[in-house]
Amino acid sequence: MTPVVKVENLAARYGKNIVFEGVSFDVFEGEIFAIVGGNGCGKTTIFKCMTGLLKPSGGRILVRGIDPATEDREELKTLRKGTGVLFQSGALFGSMTLYDNMALVLKEYTALPSPVIDMIIRTKLGMVRLAGCENLLPSELSGGMKKRAGIARAMVMDPVVLFLDEPSAGLDPITSGEFDILIKNVNTGMGTTMIIITHQLESIFNVAHRVIMLDKQAKGIIAEGDPRELRKHSKDPRVKAFFGGGIPRYPAKLEQPNPDKLIADSKKQKA
Ligand SMILES: Nc1ncnc2c1ncn2[C@@H]1O[C@H](COP(=O)(O)OP(=O)(O)OP(=O)(O)O)[C@@H](O)[C@H]1O
Ligand SMILES: [Mg+2]
Repeated sequence: MTPVVKVENLAARYGKNIVFEGVSFDVFEGEIFAIVGGNGCGKTTIFKCMTGLLKPSGGRILVRGIDPATEDREELKTLRKGTGVLFQSGALFGSMTLYDNMALVLKEYTALPSPVIDMIIRTKLGMVRLAGCENLLPSELSGGMKKRAGIARAMVMDPVVLFLDEPSAGLDPITSGEFDILIKNVNTGMGTTMIIITHQLESIFNVAHRVIMLDKQAKGIIAEGDPRELRKHSKDPRVKAFFGGGIPRYPAKLEQPNPDKLIADSKKQKA
């Protein structure tokens, strides 16, 4: 089976700072694939490489057979038509209504007449429970509504693959749970392949078929597989800690450093 997204030996850096190297994974049709890991391990950086915003420093990515870093305009257009993206920050245009935010995409990539565009926008907003909100500005929406609007916009072209960077961050647990249901419904109803970056364990167990875990120190992938299996069977303490394998998330008591001991240790090291 040809993967929808193929990542081979990928490396990324900002100046001298190598974020990761040797990262390889495949995402197959219809999968919900999660990318997890602590702050700063490079999740958004991979996301930027996969959506063509950042050129990798090594390796390559193919999304539906096309390199997102290509400079071939026709290939890029084909790729963008079939790809939906929800950025970490949401990124709706603040001066435009929800309707105009969504119409912009349809007008750029299709020659559909206005009544059809109208129908598509209303259907997509209905799908994320924002029916009747088309004339609101992003500033008039709550955080949860903004996220749902972002999904509706990402879905407006019925993409083959949907990239979501922390879709449920900042949502209350109930809204976040509803969001997971929405993601699952889109995945099963439309067969959309999804790549989701998330910190939310519940979300991972609720929706993800497979997951990779990145690590800042390792500068790459430290675990890959079914999140339930990783929780049960991984022996790696970093993976166990993340997936809740019994290590307390917060130490019971925060140890205060002993300044006298620190000075003595440093003198010993110098000697
Ligand atoms: N534009 C940039 N210029 C320089 N360094 C950057 C830039 N963007 C990210 N970095 C660095 O690259 C590393 C990875 O950042 P990235 O945003 O990919 O992490 P992340 O896993 O998405 O973190 P978070 O969970 O906080 O969103 C960090 O050390 C960060 O400081
Ligand atoms: Mg990030």
